[in-house]
Amino acid sequence: MKSSSRIGDVKLINLPKFEDPRGNLSFLEELKHIPFKINRTYWIYDVPGGQVRGGHSFIVQEEFIIAISGSFDLVVNDGKESKTISLNRSYHGVYIPAGIWRQMENFSTNSVAVVVSSTQFDQNDYIREYNDFLNFKI
Ligand code: TYD
Repeated sequence: MKSSSRIGDVKLINLPKFEDPRGNLSFLEELKHIPFKINRTYWIYDVPGGQVRGGHSFIVQEEFIIAISGSFDLVVNDGKESKTISLNRSYHGVYIPAGIWRQMENFSTNSVAVVVSSTQFDQNDYIREYNDFLNFKI
């Protein structure tokens, strides 16, 4: 199996935002604001300065990544082209299809990355070697 997804398939998606003097509210619903059904949500937090998370690709997992607090840079790469997206708002996030190499870096103090995933956790879905990733791409 090979993957043909490209950087152009990575999308910044704006979420609903209810502005309120009591504090703002945003949300997302599966198959409505994001193009997949949700099977798992996890979050990355307490990241020491200078650390990098991610640095792999997935065979089938699609995901949506939000900087729910603070900021970090999301670097996405399709094997040919790479792009850095700075995330620092809780009312939008980035949809990443399967077959995109991605990592998160430059975490601000107290930042939290929420990752909404189309699959349950499966170690076998990871591609952790960059050369394996390049072989997986068409
Ligand atoms: P991993 O996705 O490898 O994080 P990173 O790519 O940033 O290094 O996950 C780190 C560890 O957490 C790994 O040993 C597996 C475990 N893990 C789960 O058990 N369930 C999950 O949903 C996730 C995302 C990770």
